[in-house]
Amino acid sequence: MNAPVNPKDLYPADLQRRGLEDLAHVPGPKPAVSKTLRTIKFLADPLKAVTTLADTYGPIFRRQDYMGWGVTILGPEANELVLFNKDKIFSSKLGWDPVLELVFPNGLMMMDFDHHRMHRKTLSVAFKPAPMKAYLAGLTEGISRATAKWETGKPFKFYPAIKNLTLDLAAGSFLGLPWGPEAQKINQAFTDMVLASVAIVRRPLPFTQMKRGVEGRAFLCDYFGKEIPNRRGKTGDDFFTQFCNATDEDGNLLTDQEIIDHMNFLMMAAHDTLTSSMTSMVYYLGKNPEWQEKLREEVDQVRGRHGDVSGGPRIPGAAKLPYEALGELELVEMAFKESLRLIPPVPMIPRRAVKDFEFMGHKIPAGSGVGINPLYTHHMAEHWPDPERFDPLRFTTQMSANRHKYAWVPFGGGAHMCLGLHFAYMQAKAFFFHLLSNYRIVLPEGYEGDFMMVPIPRPKDGLPVTLLPR
Ligand code: HEM
Repeated sequence: MNAPVNPKDLYPADLQRRGLEDLAHVPGPKPAVSKTLRTIKFLADPLKAVTTLADTYGPIFRRQDYMGWGVTILGPEANELVLFNKDKIFSSKLGWDPVLELVFPNGLMMMDFDHHRMHRKTLSVAFKPAPMKAYLAGLTEGISRATAKWETGKPFKFYPAIKNLTLDLAAGSFLGLPWGPEAQKINQAFTDMVLASVAIVRRPLPFTQMKRGVEGRAFLCDYFGKEIPNRRGKTGDDFFTQFCNATDEDGNLLTDQEIIDHMNFLMMAAHDTLTSSMTSMVYYLGKNPEWQEKLREEVDQVRGRHGDVSGGPRIPGAAKLPYEALGELELVEMAFKESLRLIPPVPMIPRRAVKDFEFMGHKIPAGSGVGINPLYTHHMAEHWPDPERFDPLRFTTQMSANRHKYAWVPFGGGAHMCLGLHFAYMQAKAFFFHLLSNYRIVLPEGYEGDFMMVPIPRPKDGLPVTLLPR
């Protein structure tokens, strides 16, 4: 595929990093005595830390991080300004590169403007209804196979179990591979890359996670590179084969390197986000058994309407969730949305301004880092009354219509809105359709979840769950 522009030409040549002197007019804390200490404090409870900053300084404040000095802007208006990006002020690439460049370079999120638009359009073939239907069949089969091995009647750690399940599912729908040793090797390389992307040591020094990540990337690049010729000119119901045959507006195929980079990035974008969101939904259904029961009733009704009339526990393999029935799982979808509100898998979204801009009367110079915060927005009492309460009914059509469009942004918005959003709903629905058909989710008596919120939320104790046959 011929890139229409050199990405470097997208930004002003004189774009500079910003220092405290450039943002001294913006309210905010003084430079930290110890950046590490401040970071540790922030990471321990980001919602509390941002809420304290917002209460002290208001919805825009300056901050210092690994990108230098920048600003955080808060609330639905801030989200709209940055995500909708009407005036092409904010670069996604320059925001994400410091986090992802070493192991996941050139993914869609690390592209901007026309260059990004062309690649996104080319990749979107793999998200059309026909391939989605095929992925669903694979997901259903994989979910039944893997959950059948989960222990029932005694507690197990849900988070690592669903993480493995999501990886296994990706072998089929992303790579078109049967589950086996090859898929396992790929999964290990990929896991190392994901861990490296959030490692504290940012250089691939010996024995560091970053080194393992860079090696994992080399392994996967080699694997994809060798496999691409076998997939060109073929049809296949997996993302990889489709990317190998996707063409741009001028009929050009993606180059081998472009396919490799898109595949690596796609697997990263999908994996921990899905794992995190399904974990938080299991947690909230365990905490709210009355909601769990309502969802189970809906699942039973859908099964009844689509050929499984037993109405009781599902005989493994007896009832498949048809693609056409996905829309009927309305309560499941609302509960998933509510879980994504309370614990958004991408709690903060970074950008860098490539033009000067103004927010709430403060002029911010080009070059500044700019962060928005879905986690904070999702807990703002003025948009979400009684914000800590789990209430899927917040997402009825009527309740949603009265809310700011950018008050709920777990999938981002605008040009970079999550390309895998429908895949995420589909996998979550397939999973909960199966789980609720067969089991009751039980948490330990009086259990209160404690989630590590960044980089991607996960329960600190792995989430002890007991599945009881229903
Ligand atoms: C609950 C699960 C998921 C959540 C919460 C989520 C969240 C997000 C968010 C917030 C962004 C935008 C980031 C930004 O604007 O900087 C994004 C982008 C993206 N996501 Fe997801 N994601 C999920 C699942 C998936 C899945 C399953 C896939 C693939 C099958 C996927 C593929 C992508 C891609 C390719 C992008 C980049 C889009 C672009 O830059 O044009 N995501 N996701």
